[in-house]
Order: sequence, then structure tokens, then C-alpha cells
Amino acid sequence: MSSLKNDLILKTLRGEQTERTPVWMMRQAGRYLPEYMVLRKKYSFFERCQTPELACEITLQPVDIVGVDAAILFSDILVVPQAMGLEVQMVESKGPILPDPIKTTNDLNRIIVPDVNETLGYVFDAIKLIKQELNNRVPLIGFAGAPWTLLCYMVQGKGSKTFDEAKEFCYTQPALAHQLLQMITDTTIAYLKGQIAAGADTVQIFDSWGGLLSPDDFENISLKYIRQIVAALKDEAPVIVFAKGAWHSLDSMAATGAAGLGIDWCIKPQLARQFAGKNITLQGNFDPARLLGPISEIQKEVKKMMNAFGPGNHIANLGHGILPNVLVSHAKAFVDAVKNHQFEN
Ligand code: CP3
Repeated sequence: MSSLKNDLILKTLRGEQTERTPVWMMRQAGRYLPEYMVLRKKYSFFERCQTPELACEITLQPVDIVGVDAAILFSDILVVPQAMGLEVQMVESKGPILPDPIKTTNDLNRIIVPDVNETLGYVFDAIKLIKQELNNRVPLIGFAGAPWTLLCYMVQGKGSKTFDEAKEFCYTQPALAHQLLQMITDTTIAYLKGQIAAGADTVQIFDSWGGLLSPDDFENISLKYIRQIVAALKDEAPVIVFAKGAWHSLDSMAATGAAGLGIDWCIKPQLARQFAGKNITLQGNFDPARLLGPISEIQKEVKKMMNAFGPGNHIANLGHGILPNVLVSHAKAFVDAVKNHQFEN
């Protein structure tokens, strides 16, 4: 294997110095790109995920169009519940729907810890193809949802602001909840190992709903399982943990052995650094809605963000996924502003 031409993100995750701060955007392969919308009209969401040629084409779009320093696999966190035996539908303007969510012991008996090669082999095939097509231009990020965030969808059956039914399940049937979380964890470890074996250079765990839990519940319901995943993977590839809103636990997340921690825009970088400790790489934390403002403001805000993090140990990113109504020129302005940033000394 020849080596990567741009390995800024991997170097940063190893704590090495780089000539500039690397940048990518969560959900960078998606609806703000007209090229994505063309494929979206022709194929259903899971067709796009399950067809390696389509997943590959979509994964490469932001690398070619926006100039980010990494590709992230085009897929979804919900392919894991699907592989475990739950039906998942992606409904236009509604988001994910799981028509038969988990509520009881009987429901839990319907799902399995699958053979990932059988059920998710299409993802590994997509990764192999993407690596080939990337031709070492930039690293490839693999990913999975955190067990708690997947439980949210598997129990609630749809998106929610509070995920109250998922919480109720955890608080009224804790033994069942922990059984489910462990099944998701076991599946996820095998799945991410498969992604790394297929060629993913690093993997990110998305705990989009980690911030809905109190610090104690975050430890018991979420971090306990993320810790198992990081421990199983960290010697194979660097792991980035992004638990949105769970800034209160950056210290314990850093202690898992993760190489990087994602933060959202609701915490100051200096404070996140205090909580997370000196050495770990931080990733973030531009407010995605800021990309809706004028380009001159985006440039000003990027300067502020970059100076707040300082040089080194930082991967510039949004604090959550890019919004569908962002102009490509604005996304590009964000990426360029990071690339052109000069630290004053
Ligand atoms: O980052 C990337 O570009 C890679 C692809 C990716 C998708 N989903 C594609 C997608 C990644 C990393 C995800 C992760 C994901 N999926 C998360 C965690 C990150 C986050 O944003 O919090 C979550 C919670 C999901 C579940 C999910 N998938 C929801 C709630 C939705 C509907 C809302 C929405 O954003 O449309 C999806 C659909 C989805 N996943 C789309 C894409 C590009 C939009 C599908 C479309 O309409 O074309």
C-alpha cells in the first residue's frame, strides 16, 4: 500500500505537529450538494447506502467539490439496527421510522447480534471501492452510532427532541435496556473492526443524543458502552468520540483512550480543553447554522474559532452535521478559511 498524500487528520490524531489545521464537516456528503440531489432523485436512501458504486460516488463528492481533508463513508448509523433485524425506513421529510420498535422482552428476542460480513458486507465492499477511488488523496473516516443513540431510535421508533420513550425504557426496564445496549455494542465492535479491515483509516462514534442524559446516566447508559468499543478498536485505528452536548464528561471520554473528541458549539474551546486535558485532539466546533450567514461573517467566525483552539491538537469541523439549506459556496468558504488561517505568534 502506498501512503496517503494528505494525512493531516491522522497526524493530528496521533498528536503530531502539522503545517496547518485539518478540516472536514460532519454530514459533508448530503443534501446541500446538487450532485447528491441528482442521485437522491434516482435511488432510494438505502439503495444509495447498499450499492457500493453509489456510496463511493457520494463519499467522494465533498472531497472533489469542497476540498475537505478527509472523506467520510456514505452510509447511516441505522444500518446497524437493520442488520440486527429491525426494519428501518427513511421517509421523505420525516426522517427515520422503525415501525416495530423494541418495548418488551419479546421484542428483544426478535433481534440478533448478526454476522457483520453477511449483513453489512456491502459497507465493507463500499469502503474497499472508496479507498481505491480515493487513491490515497485523503484518509477515509468510518463510523457507527453510539449504543445509546442507536437505542434511542430502536426504542422510540422515530426521531424525537427528548427521546422520552427511550429514557422510560431505560428507567423502567434497566436489565432489558442493558441487554440491548450490550447487543448493540457487540455488533458495533465487529462492524467497526470490519470497516478498519476494509480500509477505514480512523473511525468516529456518533453519540448524537448523549447530551440528553444527566452526567450519571451518561456514564451508565452511554459511556460504559463507548468505553468497550474504544478499548476494542484503539490499537487498530484512532477513534474519535463525538457525544453531542456531553461536555460534562470530556474528562472521562478522554480517559477511554480515544484519540479525538468532538465538541459542539455550545462550549468554549478553552473550557473543553480544560475538561479534556492537554494531550487529546479536539474536533469542532463551528455552529452549523453559521454557514447560513454571509461569507464575510463565516470568515470572521472561523478566525475566532481557530484562535480559540490554537495550533495543533485540533481538527476543524462543525459542531454537528451540515444543514441541507447551506450553499456550497458557504461550505467551501468555511473549509478555505480554515486552510488559509494564520496563527499570530
Ligand atoms: O457524514 C456524512 O456525510 C456521511 C454520511 C452520514 C449520514 N448519516 C447520511 C445521511 C452519517 C455519518 C450519518 C450519521 C447519522 N445518521 C447520525 C449521527 C450524526 C448526526 O447528525 O447526529 C444520525 C442521528 C443519523 C440518523 C438519521 N439519518 C437521521 C435522523 C436522518 C434524517 C434527518 C436528516 O438529516 O435527513 C438520516 C438521513 C440521512 N443520513 C441523510 C444523509 C445524507 C439524508 C437522507 C436524504 O434525505 O437524502
